[in-house]
Amino acid sequence: MAPGGLLMRIAVFNGPNLNLLGIREPAIYGTTTLGEIESRLEAVGETLGITLLFSQFNDEGRMIDAIHNCYGVVDGALVNAGAWTHTSLAIRDALTAVRLPYAEVHLSNIWGREPERRHSWLAPGAIGVIAGFGADGYELALRGLVQALRRTTES
Ligand code: DQA
Repeated sequence: MAPGGLLMRIAVFNGPNLNLLGIREPAIYGTTTLGEIESRLEAVGETLGITLLFSQFNDEGRMIDAIHNCYGVVDGALVNAGAWTHTSLAIRDALTAVRLPYAEVHLSNIWGREPERRHSWLAPGAIGVIAGFGADGYELALRGLVQALRRTTES
């Protein structure tokens, strides 16, 4: 994809409860809203010369359908699957099924939290994982993902 000067397209998927960022457990997740994170990413996307497609789901099946719809039309994904990170092999299977390279991102350091959050079903398939840098992690993960994808298409 993104051949011959077409803009690289990156989908940004956020899972359950992340629509509540800003009011949700601010001591853990900060006070930045999802809208603010997306605006910031949009600005970064412009400087990187890429197109971003944002979505957030509280229904796992709908998120899986949206991942399927990326087939052949999206170059990569930034994924914060929220609690599904720790429960859903189906989300990783969907990303793998449509051959969507992805970076995993978390606001909190999931490995420094309760035992049930210390395992990610997504991590084994991810290009990389960023966790613990709060809202800034999205930008870090996006930059890393785009750099990795560009390196792959150049080689
Ligand atoms: C989260 C971490 C998850 O454990 C939690 O269920 C979330 C948010 C994070 O971004 O830190 O919903 O993915």
